[in-house]
Amino acid sequence: MSDDAFVSALRAIVGERHCLTDPDLRAGYETDWTRRFRGSARAVVRPGSVEQVAEVLRLCADAEVGVVPQGGNTGLVGGSVPRDGEVVVSLRRLGDVETVDLDAGEATCGAGATLAEVQQAARSAGWEVGVDLAARDSATIGGMVATNAGGANVLRHGPMRRQLIGFEAVLADGTIIRRLPGMVKDNTGYDLGGLIAGSEGTLAVLTRVRLRLVPPLARRAVAVAGFGSAAAAVEAASRLRRALGTVLALELFTDAGLELVMRHASAAPPFAERTPFYLLVEAGSDEADPTDGLANALEALEVGEAGAIANDAVGRRRLWELRERHTESVNAEGIPHKLDVSVPVARFAELAERAPDAVRAVDGDARTIVYGHVGDGNLHVNILGPAPDDEVVDDAVLELTLRLGGSVSAEHGIGIAKVDWLIRDRGEAAVEAMRAVKRAWDPSWILNPGVIFAQPDS
Ligand code: FAD
Ligand code: MLT
Ligand code: ZN
Repeated sequence: MSDDAFVSALRAIVGERHCLTDPDLRAGYETDWTRRFRGSARAVVRPGSVEQVAEVLRLCADAEVGVVPQGGNTGLVGGSVPRDGEVVVSLRRLGDVETVDLDAGEATCGAGATLAEVQQAARSAGWEVGVDLAARDSATIGGMVATNAGGANVLRHGPMRRQLIGFEAVLADGTIIRRLPGMVKDNTGYDLGGLIAGSEGTLAVLTRVRLRLVPPLARRAVAVAGFGSAAAAVEAASRLRRALGTVLALELFTDAGLELVMRHASAAPPFAERTPFYLLVEAGSDEADPTDGLANALEALEVGEAGAIANDAVGRRRLWELRERHTESVNAEGIPHKLDVSVPVARFAELAERAPDAVRAVDGDARTIVYGHVGDGNLHVNILGPAPDDEVVDDAVLELTLRLGGSVSAEHGIGIAKVDWLIRDRGEAAVEAMRAVKRAWDPSWILNPGVIFAQPDS
């Protein structure tokens, strides 16, 4: 089929307005959030129904054209943008939040609904979504399931896969599979939704999702405390976890990161004293106000003046922004190299202290900003300076992570950024088992080619 005939067939499926071939219109879909990864698409299509997604996939399978599923394009490992003439399938138009089941505490939505839209619907029905992250206004539920997104509350509720109880998806050949509404208890053979979760668009295109919701906590308090070392902050985190009833989040950031947030997000420091490391903790309760308990626990840590606490919504948000606005503030300084890694919690402080040294050893001019989810052993290592395609610093951090017994991807995925590291992390046998699943689901290898694994003939 000629290129023109192929594009005309796409137009016939989704309509003229929703098939973008003009380079200016395609541009926003072709560059990732960090600006490190970009490529050109044959076309960007915006289907308005699952049937249209199925037809597009059937056409692409027949023409052997690769497909890149895209939600909010907030992914940080290059998996959401084209590499070489694929068709980008944007799911944003499938954005309805269809139902919130009040009694069961479950919500069904289109894959293109943003996290913020589902949070709003859940809250107005007296429930809460178990996963939360700073990209909430753009990240879609489909993209979050596809990446098995984590975020700040994994400590309490687990990542996206744990919230998933039903789905509708289109396979590479255009077949629609559906398990909706989905049941909390459902041992009917393989957990296909669980397999699609974290598959980064390489096994199926999600079109609809059913999530379990969690009961909201009536009262919350947030504190930030300062520490002289990562080890002291991590030790405090584990003491707080033991001392407090319900801990929702335990987050680490550094003074270098705070400096960037102050510069780019007009934030004020949490307290007058500046310390090398900061720990943010959020505690919650259904009944008694957790503020006193949190304040007492902080006092026991003897942080002196280097502590701040808030229980009103504005004060809590102000403290949270110090941590959440790191991503955009790092981006405002330059195109970052982002390494999202995890280690056993016992090695977390060592990783946080040693990662900047590992970077410095291979690039004396690079700047390293670390922050992360202490409770999950998940550190985000952000490096500014090296050219986007210079991977020397990436390799240094991933090498250190593996030496500390960790994982090269904690929550962002493999994408195209870490393909070469998958085998080193998981081993040949495990990766071959993954490839066997890929071959069975997508024999022509059209779904997100190059993501997670290199294509077989390359
Ligand atoms: P996209 O970026 O569009 O796509 C991501 C991947 O999923 C791609 O491989 C894509 O092909 C695939 N995909 C997208 N939609 C579908 C679909 N419907 N069906 C099949 N495959 C699909 N991530 C975390 O885990 N924790 C965080 O705390 C966190 N914080 C962030 C903060 C900021 C400011 C930013 C910019 C990003 C953050 N992220 C975080 C990363 C990102 O938000 C998540 O990876 C999110 O899950 C991506 O959702 P998306 O809709 O933007 O997906
Ligand atoms: C975070 O925890 O802030 C996110 O995962 C995004 C990032 O790594 O910058
Ligand atoms: Zn994170």
